[in-house]
Amino acid sequence: MNKNIHLIEHPLIEHKLTHIRKKDTSSKEFKEFLDEITRLMAYEVFKNIKLRKVTIITPMAKATGYELSERVNLYPILRAGIGMVNGFTNIIPSAKVGHIGMYRDEKTLMPIQYLFKYPKDTEKDTFNIIIDPMIATGNSAIAAVEILQSKGIKNLKFVALIASKQGIENLANKFPSLEIFIAKIDPKLSKSGYIVPGLGDAGDRIFGTK
Ligand code: URA
Repeated sequence: MNKNIHLIEHPLIEHKLTHIRKKDTSSKEFKEFLDEITRLMAYEVFKNIKLRKVTIITPMAKATGYELSERVNLYPILRAGIGMVNGFTNIIPSAKVGHIGMYRDEKTLMPIQYLFKYPKDTEKDTFNIIIDPMIATGNSAIAAVEILQSKGIKNLKFVALIASKQGIENLANKFPSLEIFIAKIDPKLSKSGYIVPGLGDAGDRIFGTK
C-alpha cells in the first residue's frame, strides 16, 4: 500500500463504524456516529500539523508552550462531506470551511462540478483537508484535488471514512504524494458505483433523503 495512505485502525472506530453501516441505524444516530468517528480520525490527521514555540505565564511561573502555526481549511465535497465538518470543527473551532459541489453522472459515474467556494489566504501556512465519507470510484476525489490544485492550494490531505479498494488505488496512483486518511477499505463496487458492503448513500443517510 502507498505509504501516504493512512489506514486508521482503532477499536472505537471499528465499533462505531459497525453501527454506522447497519441499515436500520437512524439518521440521527448516523450523524452522531459520523461526528464521533471524524473526531477520532482527526487526532491522526493532525499528528503532523506545525506548531510554533510560545512563552506563556501560568499562575505559577513562566513556561514554554506550543501553538498551532498553520490555519486549517476544510473542503467538504457536497453533500455528504458536510457530515464530517462538525467532527473537525469540534477539535479546531477556527477552521474555515470551503465547499466543493459535485454530483455524479449516473451513467458515466463521472463527477460534474457546480460549485466551488474557498477561504481567502490559502497560499501560506494552511493545512487543507478535503472531506467526503466515501471514496467509491475515486473520480470525485480526483476532481476535488484537481479543483484545489488549479487554485494553487497546496498542503492537501484527503479524509474519508470508507473507500473501495479500486477507488483509493485510483486516487493514490493519480496523486502519489497526497496524504489520504481512511478508516476502512472495502473490497467491491456495485455496478451503479456504490461501495460494497459500504453503508449505502452517505448523503441520504445523513440528511434523511432518498
Ligand atoms: N457515495 C456514497 O454515499 N456511497 C457509496 O457507496 C458510494 C458513493
